[in-house]
Amino acid sequence: MYALKICTNGAESCVLTGESFHRLGAYLPKDKQVIIITDGNVRKFYRDFIDGFPVVEIGVGEQYKTLRTVENIYAALLDLNADRNSFIVAVGGGLVCDVAGFAASTYMRGIPFGFVSTTLLSQVDASVGGKNGVNFGGYKNMVGTFNQPQFVICDHEMLNTLPDAEFVSGLAEIVKAAAIRDAALFDYLEKNADEILARKADVLSHMIEMSVKIKAQVVENDEREQGERRILNFGHTFGHAIEVLSGVSHGEAVSVGMMIAARWSAGECGFPLSGVQRLERLLQRFKLPVTSTVPVVDVLQSAAKDKKRENSFIHLVLLSNIGKTEIRKTSVDEISKKLGNYYG
Ligand SMILES: NC(=O)c1ccc[n+]([C@@H]2O[C@H](COP(=O)([O-])OP(=O)(O)OC[C@H]3O[C@@H](n4cnc5c(N)ncnc54)[C@H](O)[C@@H]3O)[C@@H](O)[C@H]2O)c1
Ligand SMILES: [Zn+2]
Repeated sequence: MYALKICTNGAESCVLTGESFHRLGAYLPKDKQVIIITDGNVRKFYRDFIDGFPVVEIGVGEQYKTLRTVENIYAALLDLNADRNSFIVAVGGGLVCDVAGFAASTYMRGIPFGFVSTTLLSQVDASVGGKNGVNFGGYKNMVGTFNQPQFVICDHEMLNTLPDAEFVSGLAEIVKAAAIRDAALFDYLEKNADEILARKADVLSHMIEMSVKIKAQVVENDEREQGERRILNFGHTFGHAIEVLSGVSHGEAVSVGMMIAARWSAGECGFPLSGVQRLERLLQRFKLPVTSTVPVVDVLQSAAKDKKRENSFIHLVLLSNIGKTEIRKTSVDEISKKLGNYYG
């Protein structure tokens, strides 16, 4: 078991990788009423454990990431007489953690909470960094807060029940973490790709721990996304557009987005072609796509509306090498001219 303490804005969160969810009790405050928030799917797999607590169940899927769901949670918390002496545990993937973290952060101006992260994506990405919230007005994560869970339990055993598509989607974020910050992790992923796909426990545990460390380091340096945190957007500028336009999973879209960014990096900032090839090979071994059938003009139009855009500029996250990033403030005009060259 590995415990990583993350400090941001005076709040401390502890991410526990290689820990078992059966040991949740060890992290709960002794004198508080504990309430679990989960989704119907996760509850079905882990009913024995979850139903030992009062449970608030939310719907499965991104369409439930709404203020309506948050209202339903508030109502259920009221019914359970929850107050500042209560403690919320979200048991689920990124969706459950984002929604429950937001509900807990706002109910009675905030009650404490922790996460049991049950998808690969949420273990390595969503659970670290204190962002939570819901979609609004057609935009993802438009309404939310920055607030840290007291703990995040990342139990790789829980990934054994995860469908392949969800597992692979999480792998895309791990490849991203390695590509932007950790050449040694990138090597490790290449050498252990088969064991990873076979979900071998010790390999998963190591890979998750390394990825969590990377995200934690970046987030600690820059909790509110003013500077360094931007590197976490590698593959996401065009990836988001592809996700919205084609309906592929987040991980698949980010995979294509990383390839576009890698080709752009080779063309514009000296990223070696061998690096582009390594990235492509690794993504393909993980059964992730490296090109998209969405027309480039549609991607352009959608990327130009990106909410992280600054006037008519987008901060493109590029690679100068595996593990090293370079951020280029690029005008939408320049992107329009060049995207076709790198789209793949
Ligand atoms: N807060 C952040 O920093 C951050 C970062 C990245 C993503 N996110 C958010 O995370 C969400 C996506 O997260 P996700 O991919 O984990 O989605 P999710 O929570 O919807 O889970 C995906 C599916 O897997 C099921 N599931 C979860 N755990 C399981 C398990 N152990 N066994 C079997 N099935 C299981 C769920 O019921 C669901 O059907 C998005 O809403 C995204 O915006 C947030
Ligand atoms: Zn992502």
